[in-house]
Amino acid sequence: MNDPEIVYRALVRRGYDACARAYHESRKAQAPTEIRGLMERLEDGASVLDVGCGAGVPIARSLVKRQRVTGVDVSPEMVRLARRHVPSGDFRCADVMSTTFEPSSFDAVVALYSIFHIPRETQPALIQRFHRWLRPGGYLLCTLSHQSEPGYTEDDFHGVTMYWSNYSLGEYLGILAHSGFVVLETASTAYGYNEAGQGTIEDHPVVLAQRR
Ligand SMILES: C[S@@+](CC[C@H](N)C(=O)[O-])C[C@H]1O[C@@H](n2cnc3c(N)ncnc32)[C@H](O)[C@@H]1O
Repeated sequence: MNDPEIVYRALVRRGYDACARAYHESRKAQAPTEIRGLMERLEDGASVLDVGCGAGVPIARSLVKRQRVTGVDVSPEMVRLARRHVPSGDFRCADVMSTTFEPSSFDAVVALYSIFHIPRETQPALIQRFHRWLRPGGYLLCTLSHQSEPGYTEDDFHGVTMYWSNYSLGEYLGILAHSGFVVLETASTAYGYNEAGQGTIEDHPVVLAQRR
């Protein structure tokens, strides 16, 4: 257990198990604006993988109206809620870094507010996994970060200790290009963690990319 990655993964899983309901309460009323550009491009019945799907609201629940949705999340409590909120989705409780899917099995991969919970040294390998799981021409929609921040924890994320780690947007754009993606659009999120009493909402870039 000396591997810091293992420690942080356990912390993230335990943290989301403990704050799943509080996170869901803060997220459930948000409009799913992040997926608008992706939805316009997907045909009905397309297969979408939602990585770090959380409680399934609002993203998986919106996608499932027209798409076939598979969700993966490391937190058993989040997966339990997602199954309840989105009965027609197919949800798997697993670490996205160790679970596997068949190559070219998805038309789109969506990873909103989840990549930054994985140690950044591992994130290029995660983006390569997304590339492998997407069919050629498939879409990756993900939230990234503006600033470079090595791994850090905060103790007051919905009442739990949480871990984040990210590169700068410029570094991510390089990783995406190197992994075989072409960036189609970069927007800004309408949603981010809003610490109680702070009033400002953290902004994250939302990147829509396509597998070459
Ligand atoms: C901030 S929530 C985002 C939930 C949802 N995507 C949304 O848009 O509200 C991050 C989610 O990522 C999940 N997660 C974090 N690390 C993960 C990993 N290594 N594998 C799978 N899921 C992970 C957490 O359990 C949590 O449900």
